[in-house]
Amino acid sequence: MKVLIGVCGGIAAYKAAEVVSKLVQAGCEVDVCMTPQAERFITALTFSALTGRPTQTQEQLSQDSLDQTYAHLYPSTKVDLFVLIPATANTIGSIAHGLGTDPVSNGVLSLKADCKRLYCPAMNTHMWKQVSVQRNCEQLKEDGWIAVGPESGRLACGSMGIGRLADTEIIVEKILQQKS
Ligand SMILES: Cc1cc2nc3c(=O)[nH]c(=O)nc-3n(C[C@H](O)[C@H](O)[C@H](O)COP(=O)(O)O)c2cc1C
Repeated sequence: MKVLIGVCGGIAAYKAAEVVSKLVQAGCEVDVCMTPQAERFITALTFSALTGRPTQTQEQLSQDSLDQTYAHLYPSTKVDLFVLIPATANTIGSIAHGLGTDPVSNGVLSLKADCKRLYCPAMNTHMWKQVSVQRNCEQLKEDGWIAVGPESGRLACGSMGIGRLADTEIIVEKILQQKS
């Protein structure tokens, strides 16, 4: 199964590396794209080292060499499944509105119509409960996206509540279920 992982700028970004590692071990062909904000939390090198493939970053997308002229279309147009992890409030909003301003939201715009789409929200409880965020999640549902999480528990900011990234084991299980 060809999987594209979109990593956003949330504190749970490091957990995306664990998911990527497990998918590679399970025999999936995994590519990763990152928002510029995600690069503040984790490096592209981590993902490239785990996948053995180049990670798509804003810088790489901006390069003008001839062999990369259509970099914004690959690997998005080739994959069976796209997974947004962690899904930030900001990128959920971009996708719900069809925007494509970075490698992740642009990657989503280039997915095949029959590509399966999962997203794994992770954010502070107040962000998650925000009417605009809930409205955008409703839009994703309507557009065929499957939500994995969020869970309730202790959040990175120190408070308790809903907004925690789903357990990585559960995320991997859900991804592998999409094979059939
Ligand atoms: C330390 C820190 C942690 C953050 N954690 C989250 C988070 O877990 N979820 C979220 O939606 N935004 C979080 N943010 C805010 C996002 O980084 C911000 O909205 C950013 O613009 C998201 O960009 P992206 O969606 O393009 O990756 C955090 C910001 C900081 C400074």
